[in-house]
Amino acid sequence: MLSKASQVFILTDENVAPFWLPEVAHWLHCESAIDIVIKAGEQHKNLQTVQRIWKTLMKHHADRNALLINLGGGTITDLGGFAASTYKRGIRFINAPTTLLAMVDAAIGGKTGIDFGGAKNQIGTFTEAEDVLIDPIFLTTLPEREIRSGMAEMLKYGFISDSKLLEINLENYQQYITHCGEIKREIVAKDPYEKGLRKVLNFGHTLGHAIESHCLTKDTPLLHGEAVALGMRAALWLSVKQCGLNEKVLKDYEKQLPMLLAEAVMDLDKTDVEPILSYLAHDKKNRGEKPQFVLLEAVGKPVLDVEVSMETVRLSLEDTIINKVW
Ligand SMILES: NC(=O)c1ccc[n+]([C@@H]2O[C@H](COP(=O)([O-])OP(=O)(O)OC[C@H]3O[C@@H](n4cnc5c(N)ncnc54)[C@H](O)[C@@H]3O)[C@@H](O)[C@H]2O)c1
Repeated sequence: MLSKASQVFILTDENVAPFWLPEVAHWLHCESAIDIVIKAGEQHKNLQTVQRIWKTLMKHHADRNALLINLGGGTITDLGGFAASTYKRGIRFINAPTTLLAMVDAAIGGKTGIDFGGAKNQIGTFTEAEDVLIDPIFLTTLPEREIRSGMAEMLKYGFISDSKLLEINLENYQQYITHCGEIKREIVAKDPYEKGLRKVLNFGHTLGHAIESHCLTKDTPLLHGEAVALGMRAALWLSVKQCGLNEKVLKDYEKQLPMLLAEAVMDLDKTDVEPILSYLAHDKKNRGEKPQFVLLEAVGKPVLDVEVSMETVRLSLEDTIINKVW
């Protein structure tokens, strides 16, 4: 595939580049590839960075047979996928995920995008990568906090699909990476454009995204998986109240939360509730007034499009970020 490309570009960030950029160029026999190294972090997943990528492609006269390799975490695969899918109406791209979260989730399934207007993933496309190159060797340089963040997304697959994944811990998680990717691929294959089934992948993300967007405005932002970990706790609480989920599932998950959030700075209090709820009101998945959630009747039995009143959402959020019974 690389040999068919008129030019190869490698997009990565400043943290990943020193560890892996020369190695990957060597492994893929593309040492002459043009590197695009951007600043790391969600706050750079924006239009300015995309413009920088487009300008670099233009400066090097990239044509429609050029290929972009996205080497990094979900920020890079989302951004690079978006830049590639829009440049000259679309050039091919390959994802080489270097975080656990991107290996099990972000790099797979064709959702690309950037944050805009202060909210996450507001602009984007559905465009599949030509290939996704998964190698756990990249995880040897990944900080443990990022591993914990990725484990939250792995637990998500446990809740929506396979209870075996609820057993993961810091020692055994690597053996389940492929399995999580397979679950995602299977769901996406059935519903690539999120008309129905694919929405199950948003379990924990409705409030999770709102918490993440709000925390991005603070000095101590939460990682994506950390925000999702909190969003899943609220979703399980709502599932007990509205869908008859056995409370034991919630209680068991609460025992895992300290592991997922061990390195997160949790400085959320009552003053954070309103701003988080207003992000939720802007969530693109909501129709009309009431937010819609993916909830669970039981582990492996998700229910889509459950309408929840704003008051009940507020209670679930307060119970999760203020009462912190867990
Ligand atoms: N498109 C999708 O389907 C989808 C799904 C889930 C999440 N996402 C998106 O993914 C993003 C989060 O991705 P993420 O958690 O991978 O974060 P990230 O890409 O920001 O990476 C986290 C940090 O780890 C560093 N890093 C990455 N790989 C490294 C390595 N091997 N060694 C050392 N440092 C490394 C990065 O520089 C960064 O500082 C969010 O923007 C989220 O919206 C997208």
